[in-house]
Amino acid sequence: MTAERERAVAFAPGRVNLIGEHTDYNDGLSLPFAIADGVTVEAEAIDGDEVVALAHDEGEQDRFDLRAPEHPDDGGWRAFVRGLVAELAAAGLPVRAARLEIRGTVPRGSGLSSSAALSVSVALGLLALSGAEDADRRQLARICSRVENDWVGAQTGLLDQLASLFGKPDRVLRIDFRSLAVEPVPLRLGDWQLVTVDSRESHDLSASGYNRRREECAEACALLGVGTLRDAPADAFAWLPEPLGRRVRHVQGENLRVEATISALQEDDLTEVGRLLDASHASMRDDYAASTDAVEATVARLKAAGAAGARMVGGGFGGHVLALLPPGIASPGDGTVVVPAAGARLLSQP
Ligand code: GLA
Repeated sequence: MTAERERAVAFAPGRVNLIGEHTDYNDGLSLPFAIADGVTVEAEAIDGDEVVALAHDEGEQDRFDLRAPEHPDDGGWRAFVRGLVAELAAAGLPVRAARLEIRGTVPRGSGLSSSAALSVSVALGLLALSGAEDADRRQLARICSRVENDWVGAQTGLLDQLASLFGKPDRVLRIDFRSLAVEPVPLRLGDWQLVTVDSRESHDLSASGYNRRREECAEACALLGVGTLRDAPADAFAWLPEPLGRRVRHVQGENLRVEATISALQEDDLTEVGRLLDASHASMRDDYAASTDAVEATVARLKAAGAAGARMVGGGFGGHVLALLPPGIASPGDGTVVVPAAGARLLSQP
């Protein structure tokens, strides 16, 4: 613990997942990186027992008793703030009365993890006021994930929060969700570029097929008699009824593609990385059934423009597409070039 402070500014980034999708809640592997865009929270200690939060992008405000936050009627940004105050306290971390000013640059429902950026920045801002900003980052990721699960209703895993908390410039992060080991892997793009393009189909993970996919993985585990798909036998596909067999085949193949991508990066073989991104997308579309017409049209457009690989990022069912562009292929007009950036941090320490 450090000293309490009266003001703090916390920033947490969104993330892009290079590869390794729907593996996190299956104790598998992913390779995400934090991006430059994110959410900034200006936190100020106030007298009394309330938290007052202003979401500037929405032009909305919330105010609640920090000792007993209630579930809000909608599952929007208020659920994150109230849930965090409740879950930080439940984990024994100190929370003071505060005024929070929240501003973000990650588009909502875009597959770039606006929600993890929101929850991690609010958590860090609140903890900084109590002098507890050096709390264990894996514990923080779990707390933020619990908020998504129990307060927002999306049964998501730890991918987004760990990427936001552990991001490093020029590195992708190999995350093993069984041990929660996070290993930075150099990303040497040279004249290649990674770009994200919005499919213009917003997704809401709590309402999409995401939760159903997670249930299907649990059903497959029950049938296979394993606690997690990480322990599923290599030939599980042959034993399971459809669609469970295909769901498991995606998860198992995706874990292998993460390792293959790391090898390709170590050999500076970006053509092979592109091929693996395409294979990941095909698996998400065909075996995991998580694509949409708008996503497919965006992937097809990027491939036609010369992308070495293109895949949807995040939970799927809409959101952004990530493309790897070889030298000489320009980013499309609606593309954003993304590079690995630093993880969540305090911006100023007045
Ligand atoms: C969303 C979830 C993550 C992860 C991805 C899919 O981003 O929040 O936990 O499951 O989808 O890889």
